[in-house]
Amino acid sequence: MKRLLKWIFRVVLVLLILAFVFVFVGYWRSTNDCDRHTGAPTNPMKAIVYCDYGLANLKLADVEKPVPNDDQILVKVRAASVNPYDWHFVEGTPKIMRLMGVGLRKPKDTRLGVDFAGTVEAVGKNVTEFKPGDDVFGGRGGAFAEYVCRRAEGAVALKPANITFEQAASVNIAGITALQGLRDKGKVQPGQKVLINGASGGVGTFAVQIAKSFGADVTGVCSTRNVDLVRSLGVDHVIDYTKEDFTKSAQRYDVILDNVTNRSLLECRRVLTPKGKYVLIGGGGPNEQGLIGPLWSPIKTMLLSPFVSQEMGMMMADSNQKDLTILADMMQSGKVKPVIDRTYKLSEVPEAIRYVEQGHARGKVVITVE
Ligand SMILES: NC(=O)c1ccc[n+]([C@@H]2O[C@H](COP(=O)([O-])OP(=O)(O)OC[C@H]3O[C@@H](n4cnc5c(N)ncnc54)[C@H](OP(=O)(O)O)[C@@H]3O)[C@@H](O)[C@H]2O)c1
Repeated sequence: MKRLLKWIFRVVLVLLILAFVFVFVGYWRSTNDCDRHTGAPTNPMKAIVYCDYGLANLKLADVEKPVPNDDQILVKVRAASVNPYDWHFVEGTPKIMRLMGVGLRKPKDTRLGVDFAGTVEAVGKNVTEFKPGDDVFGGRGGAFAEYVCRRAEGAVALKPANITFEQAASVNIAGITALQGLRDKGKVQPGQKVLINGASGGVGTFAVQIAKSFGADVTGVCSTRNVDLVRSLGVDHVIDYTKEDFTKSAQRYDVILDNVTNRSLLECRRVLTPKGKYVLIGGGGPNEQGLIGPLWSPIKTMLLSPFVSQEMGMMMADSNQKDLTILADMMQSGKVKPVIDRTYKLSEVPEAIRYVEQGHARGKVVITVE
């Protein structure tokens, strides 16, 4: 027994040393295109670039304008929007993200932003869905820039004429998350009671309107200053979290869409119907990140789910053309209207991200690209 323990100790020690060496070497070899391309671009455009982690390292720089391949469209970006996703990448947090390929010492991808809206400037020879001059919106890494290239069959759709570029740019991550969370994970049915925790933020303002369009009886949770905003989106009931804890209420909900995760799973379960669904979207501010931070919540949800009668699970948004088109139709028919809190210029992306990082955006924060 003693010999066995000795061997286990030695194996664990060797594994630990190997892991340490692996991380150490990986850390010092970690590089990005800031180290590789130092020359001036031949066909420049402006874009936000960050060579090192941290908001202070964001800068507006000249980079090479992208050229569409045969299956892509080139979009002149008119507006882009900011998501908590962006500050996770700027800060490289939770730190485990760095180990999982985002870049150990430096960000591997030096470009930022995902959500965009703009006008198609050129199309590849295989593209039939779009033509130059079309106004579109969608998602593509590096959207904080004057131009993006996007595969025509990917996450891009025609912009409805009745919404602005700023509104269209706010849809991709937040709108898709709300739609897929309610429709695919929550399976919301007409007449069901749905609670949206964090109803006044990017995802929440879309979720309230989408849940109403599904015919649900919707309760929105927000702070006092956002009660009127959330009410104006059509909710049936508002809970002001500074005065009332929704998990202590006598009401039972068929679906909880949780954008905040400030209540434990057991507390949320208390206010779910026996067959109710808890949909974990996200939560956790910059001071709650650490090594794993908000990733504990989906782990806990996965562990609890098999032991309770309710369905409890996390969802990850999957941007795609079909759902962007559904959202475009909802906006066209007036069922959904994106809520814009503030707009910033491309050069002000750091300020815009700093604002979103505070966790109290009222709807979406948008970058106007001139
Ligand atoms: N799983 C996915 O695929 C996915 C996709 C998108 C986003 N997310 C995650 O989902 C979360 C929400 O995203 P978002 O874009 O909606 O963020 P956001 O626009 O920054 O909104 C945050 C909102 O949370 C509200 N809030 C803060 N504390 C609250 C509390 N105690 N109770 C109720 N509301 C509270 C804030 O309202 P007040 O000012 O009133 O406090 C604010 O409106 C983020 O953590 C994001 O990373 C996940």
